[in-house]
Amino acid sequence: MNCTLHLNGTETALGVDGKDMLLNVLRDEVGLTSVRGTCGIGLCGTCTVIVDGQTTASCILPVGLADGKEVTTIEGVPSDDPVKVAFEKANAFQCGYCTPGMILTARAFLDENPDPTDDEIAEALAGNICRCGCYVKIADAVRLAAGMLRDEKVAA
Ligand code: FES
Ligand code: FES
Repeated sequence: MNCTLHLNGTETALGVDGKDMLLNVLRDEVGLTSVRGTCGIGLCGTCTVIVDGQTTASCILPVGLADGKEVTTIEGVPSDDPVKVAFEKANAFQCGYCTPGMILTARAFLDENPDPTDDEIAEALAGNICRCGCYVKIADAVRLAAGMLRDEKVAA
């Protein structure tokens, strides 16, 4: 089928089998290897992308269901985005394998909840597994990003 994704702000037309998973299309057809597969069954969060504002496990979403939708991968998040900056400042990674999914989850979460409690941060990140065990620093980064986003709003 012909499938058009609004991918990181650019209309991207693809000739694909609509049953192919979005993860594989993004990696193999588009070359966005930041979207990483691990479990393949929607449980680990490494393949997280944002589809129409919702975090989505791309390993279990047939690309046909993303036709016409806004899809954001880590490449679509500006380098000066407070969440990306906060992850760097807080050293919230070791190998970095989980990091794109973590940042995208945090990004969508903070859009919905700009002033989260620690419990809410933990709950928001519960679907993203970090094999390096960086959870404390990842939570620090989300807290820091929340503060930076609030400061941006006050300054605007
Ligand atoms: S690879 Fe998609 S959730 Fe694990
Ligand atoms: S930083 Fe290595 S898996 Fe999270």
